[in-house]
Amino acid sequence: MFNFGVMASGAGSNFQALLAQIEAKRLNAVCSFLIVNNKNCGAAQIAKAKDIPVYHISSVTHPDPLEYEQAFLDVLKKHEIDFLVLAGYMKKLTNSLLMHLKNRILNIHPSLLPKFGGQGFYGRRVHEAVIEANQAWSGATVHLVSGEYDNGLILGQSMVPVFINDTPDSLAARVLVAEHNLYWKTLRDYAASLGY
Ligand code: GAR
Repeated sequence: MFNFGVMASGAGSNFQALLAQIEAKRLNAVCSFLIVNNKNCGAAQIAKAKDIPVYHISSVTHPDPLEYEQAFLDVLKKHEIDFLVLAGYMKKLTNSLLMHLKNRILNIHPSLLPKFGGQGFYGRRVHEAVIEANQAWSGATVHLVSGEYDNGLILGQSMVPVFINDTPDSLAARVLVAEHNLYWKTLRDYAASLGY
């Protein structure tokens, strides 16, 4: 059994998929909080419906960079967690957060990293680039978070075919299903490898 916090910016389908695996008792874990940078995002609505504490931290709520950085650490002080899970979180993490949770932060990315990763590759743009580059395969990657975008040790990958008539949206939908299947298993296995 382990505790984790989640950070998200968007619809929250990966967040929801993790919660579903906990409810189905396939993932023996507790989700302690959600941090969002946009308080109206889908992920925030999902957390509220499940009574999971939601923290809204952004450069609007915390214009002072030091207070912004401290806001994340305050959440960690309040909730002791074993892992931090990024589920479609589109902002760069602060250095103190990275240092505080070294090798404990996981991210999911909608491509077969190291292909189609790095700054500027997020959401729909990834799938546009994959189709433009005539790739036969795409997929999802779960990796540890280092200082750089989409960098860090790869913990798990899942491949998805790219069809000749795919649009960025149809490919995104196929990859998203793979993400939902991959994330909880990779989190479970990584936690097990550390003795949880
Ligand atoms: C997911 O496809 C995730 O891989 C991607 O954002 C989407 C969030 O969807 N993340 C990145 O592109 C990170 N570089 P969701 O809000 O429905 O989970």
